[in-house]
Amino acid sequence: MGLIQAQRGTRDILPGEIAYWQQVEATARAILSTAAFAEIRTPIFEQTDLFERGIGEATDVVGKEMYTFLDKGDRSLTLRPEGTAGVVRAFIEHGLHAQGGVQRLWYMGAMFRYERPGTGRQRQFHQLGVELLGSGDVRADAEVIAIAVDFLHAVGLNDLQLELNSLGTRDDRSHYRSLLVDYLTPYKADLDADSQDRLTRNPLRILDSKDAKTQAILQDAPLLGQSLSAASQERFTKVQQLLTDLGIVYTLNPKLVRGLDYYSHTAFEFQSVQFGTVGGGGRYDGLVTELGGPETLAIGWAIGLERLIGLLQQLRPTQATATDFYIVSKGDAAETQALKLAQTLRRAGFKTELDLSSSAFGKQFKRADRSKAAACFILGEAEAANHTVQLKWLATGEQQAIAQSELPTRFNELRQQLDNSRENQI
Ligand code: HAM
Repeated sequence: MGLIQAQRGTRDILPGEIAYWQQVEATARAILSTAAFAEIRTPIFEQTDLFERGIGEATDVVGKEMYTFLDKGDRSLTLRPEGTAGVVRAFIEHGLHAQGGVQRLWYMGAMFRYERPGTGRQRQFHQLGVELLGSGDVRADAEVIAIAVDFLHAVGLNDLQLELNSLGTRDDRSHYRSLLVDYLTPYKADLDADSQDRLTRNPLRILDSKDAKTQAILQDAPLLGQSLSAASQERFTKVQQLLTDLGIVYTLNPKLVRGLDYYSHTAFEFQSVQFGTVGGGGRYDGLVTELGGPETLAIGWAIGLERLIGLLQQLRPTQATATDFYIVSKGDAAETQALKLAQTLRRAGFKTELDLSSSAFGKQFKRADRSKAAACFILGEAEAANHTVQLKWLATGEQQAIAQSELPTRFNELRQQLDNSRENQI
């Protein structure tokens, strides 16, 4: 029988890269809690209907990419392909709107889309997202975009391009849709196959086509901006003004349409050279009513963590977390004392690794070097007999014997020495 492997489009996040994830997650928590956003955790599977109604049946996500199955009770369930629909469901179900004011929520977790796996494209991936529900004010648009920018800067990404567009109201879009279909229909045979299909199903998404011939045809196509009502245009101008006031750099992309159907007015994406779109979002003023809730204007975004971390790994190729102490020991009594020493050091907050091999000291020292520990505690038969321990600083080779009972009185001194040895390494 062959070895069982991880499923296509899924991947294990191994210890060697976990530091990136933990840093990104910690930064997200810090930035979002400072911005007064509260975390929400919703289930990974939901009733299929939620996504069909929320995201739109004409989208690729719903039409082609959902992990949908019948459970043992014949219910149609779907692994969440994104976070917004579930958050809105929870918002309505628990009456969060009844609390009045604005709800600022964030989430982080696995999402599932049956896509062709490639660079930065997986079938199970992770998103960090925010949803601000209960305000149609243009300042809410600027606020959520500013928080995304702050988060990206805080993790160390300063060179993503922010692209901005307005999708206007439903009426603006249906006006535009007919102009676009009228323009494209005579070229139908020259469009790529996907775009031909979208011409009836979801024509605005044709603007997103990567096909060169389709893009050439689109050169002279009418633009969505020309179909915006005066009020929508004015709103969009105000959002741009606020972003400029906040010192946020953006470019206007009149062809930015987003892949989910719930958007209106402001839509935006963060673009990178290596992975394309790293994050995106926008206003979704109709979604709460679409899903049976009271009229609630809302805006949010989600960032794909695999793409974000892929960029960080290129920027900072290693991110090892250093061990403080590595304990080597040999002989029954020494090994038992070493186990106890590890517990004492850990309880004092020192990152401590215990060698369990009982192999020759030379081999244990090699592993200590590999662990990048700052110092080694050594316990042999002699130390065990007189209840001492040898402390050896690996960078300098400096070594001293310490009585085990005295060790706790030296912790502050050890912390200082650890700090000094790290500074010298830098
Ligand atoms: P989205 O643009 O569909 O928006 O996804 C957001 C991000 O998730 C993408 O920019 C990308 O980084 C990541 N992503 C999407 N699909 C994959 C995949 N197959 N593999 C790896 N990463 C992927 C949303 O999901 C909306 N819910 C965002 C939102 C929140 N809008 C309003 N509120």
